[in-house]
Amino acid sequence: MAVKGGKAQPLIVIASNRGPFSFRKRKSGFTVERGAGGLVTALGALAEHHEVLWVASAMSNDDRKWTQQNGGRVQDVEGISLKLVEPNLENYEGYYNEIANPLLWFIQHQLWDIPRTPSITDKTWKAWEEGYKPVNELFAQAIADSIQGTDRPVIVLPQDYHLYMVPHYLRKLVGERVQIQPFIHIPWPGPDAWRILPKEMRDSILSSLLESDRVGFQTAKDAFNFVQTCRFYLGAHAHGRRDAVEYNGRDVGAVAYPISIDVEKLRQIADEKITQLERSQLHNFIGDRAMILRVDRIEPSKNILRGMQAYRMLLEQHPEHRGRVQMFCLLVPSRMEVDQYQDYLSEIMTEAGLINAHYSDSFWEPVRIVVGDNYTRAIAAMQMYDVLLVNPIADGMNLVAKEGVLVNRKNGVLLLSEYAGAFYELADYVLTVPPFDVYSTSEAMHQALTMPIAERAQRATALREIVTRKDVRYWFDSQVEDALRALSSQSSSPSTSSTPSAKKSAVAAKASGASSD
Ligand code: G6P
Repeated sequence: MAVKGGKAQPLIVIASNRGPFSFRKRKSGFTVERGAGGLVTALGALAEHHEVLWVASAMSNDDRKWTQQNGGRVQDVEGISLKLVEPNLENYEGYYNEIANPLLWFIQHQLWDIPRTPSITDKTWKAWEEGYKPVNELFAQAIADSIQGTDRPVIVLPQDYHLYMVPHYLRKLVGERVQIQPFIHIPWPGPDAWRILPKEMRDSILSSLLESDRVGFQTAKDAFNFVQTCRFYLGAHAHGRRDAVEYNGRDVGAVAYPISIDVEKLRQIADEKITQLERSQLHNFIGDRAMILRVDRIEPSKNILRGMQAYRMLLEQHPEHRGRVQMFCLLVPSRMEVDQYQDYLSEIMTEAGLINAHYSDSFWEPVRIVVGDNYTRAIAAMQMYDVLLVNPIADGMNLVAKEGVLVNRKNGVLLLSEYAGAFYELADYVLTVPPFDVYSTSEAMHQALTMPIAERAQRATALREIVTRKDVRYWFDSQVEDALRALSSQSSSPSTSSTPSAKKSAVAAKASGASSD
């Protein structure tokens, strides 16, 4: 047992579909690449400060080769204990490309074009039975194997919509001695949105999540929507609370832990020489024009098309900006195997082409789209924007909004959708964008471009302060603290330690009545 300061240190197990590293087989052996996604960046930083075991999926052939070479055992990679599970390829396809993306993702971001899509077919059912469920069971088994025999307190944190069934399978394997606390990075919509999912799938997901000790969400609104969904479909009781629900004798907290960024690390990247080089290249291109920036995955929920329509309207209704403004879109390819994502990229390129065809002259091209994944360039661009457009239809948090306000050097204005999780923290100092309202979005662009310098400075300073105050460590530590508090109240009251019915969540009790939503 690892002991620090006379106390058994908890073992924290993070489980996520995408792991912190990907592997590449070379002649000389394997090279390791750190993942770039928001979740990975956030959790990667934390794993350096806590003792964390990370269970993830092998996602490429080379990941599989690496796993096989290590006999599937836990390995230390750049200071992180990593274990990759290796689902059968066909199962993985159903789990990832049918159920997780697009079905659950589209439900939770409310992206389905309901009169037409989706249709739940035999393929969906097969993907559920032979893909989603078995892959989740595999994760649960891998977690249970990894913690077997330890006498340390264990906290398991399954991440996101890929792993909704993990609490169910894991509880069967490890009983009540482990704190299971999923965190859901994406929005949790109200009960209506879930009607798309067949009852069996929906009830399985909800009741699995209710086998956890508490479930973490980005905002109090997501947590409340979860409570309502469980009440509506499972008949679970909330007893008037917005942040906990009782089901099968278990009292499960629904707690908001807004995720954030690694402030220190981001500042370092912003100061690096390579970032400076990117900045001067961008400066050559932008010149003295005002920059309207967006940085997004190519993703329908990001509302990139309406953002462009708003920009077109700005040029139409406020011609004084023509030639003086530059829309710069850094778009990261994502899930290109899913048809909707490919189609979305084509529509974006068409819209940009139409705007450029209509307004450009020999010195100015109003929209520039750069497709690729270059984090340093994105940070450099964020340092230089006058306006940052973040207008998603729905977004769990949106870390670009937080990264942008932290590194920007021009006291740029943030245009933020009221349906991004970040809005709950930043609302007072942004220009609010109703994502479907193209006209208001274009007027917000105009307001930002003509805002007095002193007001820009006042808003930007306030935003920087908010983001600096609670960074990603706060997000992680508050989850771990809540789980530890529950573990210690469990062990100090022996009569309540083993039965779920008596297992009242300390956090739910603590949080009761504190919800601001
Ligand atoms: C975004 C979301 C995360 C999600 C991830 C999955 O980053 O914010 O909540 O886990 O996408 O992306 P992937 O590329 O692994 O499918």
